[in-house]
Amino acid sequence: MQSKRGRLDRYLCNQLQTHRKAVRELLLSGNVSVDGLVVKDMDKQVDEFSYIQLGDQILQANTPVYWMLHKPTGVVSATKDTQHKTVIDLLDCEARDELHIAGRLDLNSSGLLLLTNDSRWSDALMSPTQKVNKVYRVSLANPLTEEYIAAFAAGMYFSFEDITTQPAKLVILTRNVAEVTLSEGKYHQIKRMFGRFRNPVVGLHRLSIGDIVLDDTLAPGEGRALTSLEVACIS
Ligand code: URA
Repeated sequence: MQSKRGRLDRYLCNQLQTHRKAVRELLLSGNVSVDGLVVKDMDKQVDEFSYIQLGDQILQANTPVYWMLHKPTGVVSATKDTQHKTVIDLLDCEARDELHIAGRLDLNSSGLLLLTNDSRWSDALMSPTQKVNKVYRVSLANPLTEEYIAAFAAGMYFSFEDITTQPAKLVILTRNVAEVTLSEGKYHQIKRMFGRFRNPVVGLHRLSIGDIVLDDTLAPGEGRALTSLEVACIS
């Protein structure tokens, strides 16, 4: 999702369906304010959460919303789907139709899913340069061996995308259960990595994204707003 930051004059041209000359005059008249302050500068940068007024008229007043959901299996990580229930259908949040997903989970995966209407925040979270760690608990059909640890740490080449995965950490928890930490999120990455060992994933649960940990008081299908501390983890 692209961040919606841009120049105030462009925003006003669009919003008021008028041309730049008229917008310049409006600005010079001192009738436009952003976040409570009069702005006369055409180049002023605004985003989707800037509070913009023209005289007494409110042109834009959006509140950023950040939400965590304990995604159950069998629910699709999309905003619309013709076949399955979507994660949006589960949210008990007024702004739910404005939210987008920051890091999808497969239909049969469960665990921490983050949703927001703040594209700058979700872009930072998903940016490859930020290398935000995602921790998964993975249940496998067959027993794990020490070989997996080295293979995940070394990275695996995927010819389809012509990429080598970033070093990933694998900790063997029990015979058939591992904890895997990824700093990226390629398509079906964990299933494909275990696929190299012909070891099918039978359960995949995301425990955390960066410092945001799935709240263990949330049953599958339940969600809550993020705390301000959790929101501030990503910047
Ligand atoms: N890797 C997968 O294969 N599936 C997920 O849902 C998440 C990571």
